[in-house]
Amino acid sequence: MANSLTMDRGQQQASPVPAALAQGASGIGFENVSVAYGGQTILDSLTLTVKPGEIVALIGPSGSGKTTALRAVAGFVQPSAGRIVIGNKDVTQLPPYARNIGMVVQNYALFPHMRVEDNVAFGLRARGEQADLIRARVPECLGLVGMSKYAKRYPRELSGGQQQRVAIARALAIRPQVLLLDEPLSALDAQIRRSMLDELAKLHRSLPSLTVLYVTHDQTEALTLANHIGIMRDGKLVAYGDTQGLYRHPPNRFAAEFLGRANVLPARQLEPLADGFARVRCGDFVIEGRNHHNLAASSACYVCVRPHDLHFEPRAQKSNSVTGIVRSVQWLGELHSVMLEVGDEMLRLTRPPLSSPPEPGAVLPVHFDAADVTLVPEG
Ligand SMILES: Nc1ncnc2c1ncn2[C@@H]1O[C@H](COP(=O)(O)OP(=O)(O)OP(=O)(O)O)[C@@H](O)[C@H]1O
Ligand SMILES: [Mg+2]
Repeated sequence: MANSLTMDRGQQQASPVPAALAQGASGIGFENVSVAYGGQTILDSLTLTVKPGEIVALIGPSGSGKTTALRAVAGFVQPSAGRIVIGNKDVTQLPPYARNIGMVVQNYALFPHMRVEDNVAFGLRARGEQADLIRARVPECLGLVGMSKYAKRYPRELSGGQQQRVAIARALAIRPQVLLLDEPLSALDAQIRRSMLDELAKLHRSLPSLTVLYVTHDQTEALTLANHIGIMRDGKLVAYGDTQGLYRHPPNRFAAEFLGRANVLPARQLEPLADGFARVRCGDFVIEGRNHHNLAASSACYVCVRPHDLHFEPRAQKSNSVTGIVRSVQWLGELHSVMLEVGDEMLRLTRPPLSSPPEPGAVLPVHFDAADVTLVPEG
């Protein structure tokens, strides 16, 4: 079904989608959606828009409501308040099968007694599609996930990564308007996860009109795949933004720590400077950073600086130099990770592998650019 958004998009870009898979693009809208179980609010007034063709990742700690949000879109839980919109249609009251959604969950939920091709055909048969259409669509979807050669196998004859590819092919077979992915890679080992991430990115390049809501607690997956990221905490969306912007300039302490494990230090005595910068006092040190949030002079705030933005190299500068005591040094293959005790706080810094890493107990001055510091409010 084409809607106005679809047509706009269709006119803008020639799509490499196989003709039979070409489909309209529909976004997802959460409008003040709340979900409660047994009187307890699990999802609290979630408002979020996933634009047509976009990949949005929802991340957050365990129990923060990510799966619940996804299940509300799929129609497996009924919101206690608010609306869910897909394309330009309010689907809040529609049953799951009428929502035209593909969903993939963590634990390869393939039908074990069915061959791969029958798994992929399942949704089409359930909808009473013609045999000719099914014969054409199944290999097309298997081709999209690189599983053409495995059509006759049973799930037990496939690796975990291959099973997840089939699960994705099965979800795509009905030509969903939106694809919901709930931790699709978390049961896979690290190496397969990385290659599956590449494959998912490739898949989205060949299906650019597919709208994807991707739930994960792995920030690397979110940063790699998503256009935008939403961060959930206790049933609330506490941060939302484009991937790089959210990483570089987190809106609050929780987002800074959750996405990219930033160092976060309490600061006070904010003094505005030119060009959107401000100076704060952080323990014994004076630190300058970006004051994106226009924090007022009286506000308590946090200094947020990423581990890779801390440098050992000596510099002639008064601010943005702190001295600490090295508490531990870990070699992680691609980098060294150093924990530095600065006053009451611990700072983590990472450098490419060092030929002579600092020794535990050493006094180490470190420096960072004001442009790499974001001052964030609590929250
Ligand atoms: N059917 C249910 N009945 C009662 N409580 C539920 C139900 N499903 C989920 N919850 C509760 O809702 C909260 C959010 O659960 P949800 O599964 O959405 O979290 P999540 O963010 O996906 O976590 P995880 O990262 O562990 O998958 C949890 O506290 C959970 O215990
Ligand atoms: Mg979950």
